[in-house]
Amino acid sequence: MPTASITPTLETRLSRPARFIASDTLLSSLQSVLVDLIELNLQAKQAHWNVVGPNFHDVHRHLDLIVTTARDTADGVAERMRAVGGIPDGVSSTVADTTGLRAYPRGEVTTRATIDLISDRIYATVANVRALQPAVAEEDSVTADLLNSTIAQFEQHAWLLSSENRTPTS
Ligand SMILES: [Fe+2]
Repeated sequence: MPTASITPTLETRLSRPARFIASDTLLSSLQSVLVDLIELNLQAKQAHWNVVGPNFHDVHRHLDLIVTTARDTADGVAERMRAVGGIPDGVSSTVADTTGLRAYPRGEVTTRATIDLISDRIYATVANVRALQPAVAEEDSVTADLLNSTIAQFEQHAWLLSSENRTPTS
């Protein structure tokens, strides 16, 4: 009498339901991060176009690096939502209605005010991610890694940008 194999067949392994599906809470957290990143992308571009004053060129160029980071991290968050069973909503009305970031002023803005305004928006974005992060990490360490990377990139941007307006402490 033949003995049954304990090694799973290829067919068995392929049919095993191994896909991780995020909870509604996790998807809601990612959606919250997504709208802030899209709004930050738009605000940093507005700032890039309309900044004026001393050290214009450095600030103008750094703002475009922030735009790129915001766009790339938004893409990463949205695609993570798709990968774990969610549907990102990045339409302009959703972003305007749900972002936690304060509106950006219209018209020309001095370099000094621009630095404060965008640093404030970056720290607000990061604060939201940091507040959501413990629950995200408890459910899914892979998504938590994505958010940790987002935090690290923006905290570096905020440090670099806000240092333009600082004076030595000693
Ligand atoms: Fe440009």
